[in-house]
Amino acid sequence: MKINKEINRRRTFGIVSHPDAGKTTLTEKLLLFGGAIQEAGAVKSNKIKKTATSDFMEIERQRGISVATSVLGFEYKNIKINILDTPGHKDFAEDTFRTLTAVDSVIVVIDVAKGVEEQTEKLVKVCRMRNIPIIVFINKMDREGKDAFELLDEIEQKLGLHVTPLSFPIGMGYDFKGIYNIWEKNVNLFTGDPKKDIEETVKVSDLSTGEIDELIGTDSAETLREELELVEGVYPSFDINAYKSGHLQPVFFGSALNNFGVRELLDCFISIAPPPRPKQSDVREIKPEEDKFTGFVFKIHANMDPRHRDRLAFVKVVSGKFERNKPYLHVRSNKNLKFSSPNAFFAERKEIVDEMFPGDIVGLHDTGTFKIGDTLTEGEILQYKGIPNFSPEHFRYINNADPMKSKQLNKGIEQLMDEGVAQLFTLELNNRKIIGTVGALQYEVIQYRLEHEYGAKCSYENINVHKACWVQPEDEKSEEFQDFKRVKSKFLAKDKAGQLVFLADSEFSLQMTQQKYPSIQFHFTSEF
Ligand code: G4P
Repeated sequence: MKINKEINRRRTFGIVSHPDAGKTTLTEKLLLFGGAIQEAGAVKSNKIKKTATSDFMEIERQRGISVATSVLGFEYKNIKINILDTPGHKDFAEDTFRTLTAVDSVIVVIDVAKGVEEQTEKLVKVCRMRNIPIIVFINKMDREGKDAFELLDEIEQKLGLHVTPLSFPIGMGYDFKGIYNIWEKNVNLFTGDPKKDIEETVKVSDLSTGEIDELIGTDSAETLREELELVEGVYPSFDINAYKSGHLQPVFFGSALNNFGVRELLDCFISIAPPPRPKQSDVREIKPEEDKFTGFVFKIHANMDPRHRDRLAFVKVVSGKFERNKPYLHVRSNKNLKFSSPNAFFAERKEIVDEMFPGDIVGLHDTGTFKIGDTLTEGEILQYKGIPNFSPEHFRYINNADPMKSKQLNKGIEQLMDEGVAQLFTLELNNRKIIGTVGALQYEVIQYRLEHEYGAKCSYENINVHKACWVQPEDEKSEEFQDFKRVKSKFLAKDKAGQLVFLADSEFSLQMTQQKYPSIQFHFTSEF
C-alpha cells in the first residue's frame, strides 16, 4: 500500500539544545548532506544574538527568518526528513514545548566544553515525559572539552538518560584525531577541512591488528582500545526497541562546524529513528496508517505583512492522507473547511502541494480560525491531547492606551493569544485583563505587534502574581469550593478557554490555600 510506504520513509524530528551548542550549524550540515542547500551559511541562525541592539527588534527580524526555518524538509537516501525548528531562547520555551508534540524523535546537541546546560535539561525533561526517542550528539570535538566518560556520566545524571555511545572520539581539541564509529566499525580521520562533504573513512574491521596504530599512532591506538573496552564493559549494547521506547539513548561525537561525524549521525538516524508514531486523542489512539486523515495545529505564525492579517497554521498530519481542496472538519468549531493552497515545506522554501502523508507538516493559510491545539479530521469528533499551557512566569495587567481603539485592541489580544505568544487571564472580580508570559521579552513583542498589526496601543501595569494554578474542585457545589471562591475572589480569573485559574501571589499563600482546601486540586498546567 502506498500510504504505508510513505509513512515508513518519513522521519520528523526536532534538534534541541541550549543556545550556542551548535543546533543551527548541525541543521545546516544535515541539509548539505541531503543536497537541500549547496553551501554553508545558507541557513540563517534564528537565535537572538547577544550583540543585538535591542532584543525585540531582533525578534521582529527573527520572525521573518523563522517562517523559513520552521520546518525544513529534504530527502536523503530516499528518506523524507522533516526537521522542526525549536527555539533555544528560554523566553520562547513554550513554543519549543509545543513543537515537541509534533516530533517523532529528537537529536540533543551538547557542547563538549560546556556539558549539560539549563535549557537542555528542561527540554529533555519534556521529551522524557513523552518517551520521545533521543539521540545525543556531542559537538565541538575540535575544541578542548570534558573527558568523554565524564560527560557521559553528566548526561546520565543531569538528564536522567541511559546512554550508549555509538561512536567514540580519538583525542579532542588540539589533539583530535578522529572518531571510531562503533555502529559501523570504522575510523574517521579528522582533517579539519569543513568544506569536505565526506570525511576520510577508513574501514578497520579488527582493532587488535597494527592497522589502527599506523593510522593514529601507537599511543592513541592503545588508549582507544582501552577506552572501547571500557565502553563495552560499562554501557549496554544498543537495543533499537529500548531506544524507540525512550529508555536508551545512543550518543555520537563530532564537530558540526567541521562537518565531522555528521554523516555517521545521519546514516544511523535514518536507520533507527522511528517513522510517525500513533497519537492519543481524547477518545482513542489514532494510527498513522488509518485511511482517514487527522491532524493537529501545533504552531501558528503571523504573516509579516501588516496589511494582510493572514497567518500560517502548521498542521502535523497524524493519520491518512491530507488532500488539497477536500473538506475537513475543524472539530472545535464543528465547521467543514477546504484548503485550496496547502503548503509543504522544503529547505528555505514552501510550495503548494496536492497531498501530504503522516509525519508531514502542512502549512494552512488562516484568517483567524485556528488556535494552537485544534484538530482537523474527516468527520470524526476527536481532539488531540498534549498541548497544555504551563503556568507563566511573568504577569502584568494590560491596559488600553487609546480608548478609540478598544475593538482593535481586543481583537489583537485575542489573535496573539491564539498564536500562543502569551496567555490571557480575565479577573473574575472586575474583568481586568492580565497577560502571562514565559519571558519578559514577550511584553515588548505584544506591544509592538498590537500597534503595527492592529493599530492598537497598550500599556502595562505590574501585578504581584507568583503562579497561575488551574483549579479543579472535587465537587463544584461543595461548601468548601463555594468558600474558596468567596474568600479568594480577588485572585480568581478565567483563562482563554474559560477554565478557572487561581493566581497565587506567593508560594506561601499557595501552600496555605492548598492546606485550607484539601478537596480542591491546583494544577500547574491547563491539561489535567
Ligand atoms: P545554536 O544554533 O545552537 O545557537 O548554535 P550555532 O550553530 O549558531 O553555533 C554557535 C557557535 O558555535 C557558532 O559560532 C558556531 O560556528 C560554533 N560551532 C558550531 N559547531 C562547532 C564545532 O563543531 N566546533 C567549533 N569550534 N565551533 C562550532 P559563533 O562564533 O557564535 O557564530 P558564527 O559567527 O560562527 O556564526
